[in-house]
Amino acid sequence: MKVLGISGSLRAGSYNSALLRAAEQRLGEGIRLEIHDLSGIPLYDAALDGEVKPEPVRALLEAIASSQALLFATPEYNYSIPGVLKNAIDWASRPAYASVLANKPAGILSASMSAVGGARAQAHLRDVLAATLTPVYPYPDQLLPMAQNAFDAQGILQDRGALERLDRYLRGFADWAIAHDR
Ligand SMILES: Cc1cc2nc3c(=O)[nH]c(=O)nc-3n(C[C@H](O)[C@H](O)[C@H](O)COP(=O)(O)O)c2cc1C
Repeated sequence: MKVLGISGSLRAGSYNSALLRAAEQRLGEGIRLEIHDLSGIPLYDAALDGEVKPEPVRALLEAIASSQALLFATPEYNYSIPGVLKNAIDWASRPAYASVLANKPAGILSASMSAVGGARAQAHLRDVLAATLTPVYPYPDQLLPMAQNAFDAQGILQDRGALERLDRYLRGFADWAIAHDR
């Protein structure tokens, strides 16, 4: 089973991308997480959204289509998801209700430097994914607050509680996504 990891942050030292790399190491046997880089995706323009799409958009659509599930890790920017992530979802959302996102099971993680942990961004992302008919793993928000304290200098997740919560989430998410895929 291939899970596509999508980070809402382009930052080289991103905690959300680091969280996906931690998930990559901790998903069970037989599940591969491939992280897709959103950099290079142009701003959505319906005039460019024809038969031949910009190459980074084509690559995103192909990566989603060839995955059995998606795992998002998003920062919170001004109480919502970053424009980078919303823009990528907008590209992937066409044709409406019949896009590569329709019926593709998804999980949501967030890491933030605040105590709120990205909860408001997660709520917004769930709303956006409702519009694309993307089912989201029904589980309480998987938040990583004060992310700057949870990783070491190499970007490896070290916080024991966070690792335990991530493992519990990933076990449930993988079972749910596999059942959904059948
Ligand atoms: C434009 C901008 C807006 C932000 N707004 C919020 C916010 O509303 N809530 C929050 O918890 N953190 C906010 N932050 C801080 C992010 O949590 C922090 O930069 C985080 O490390 C970003 O994720 P990353 O490490 O994956 O890049 C904001 C950061 C930026 C750059």
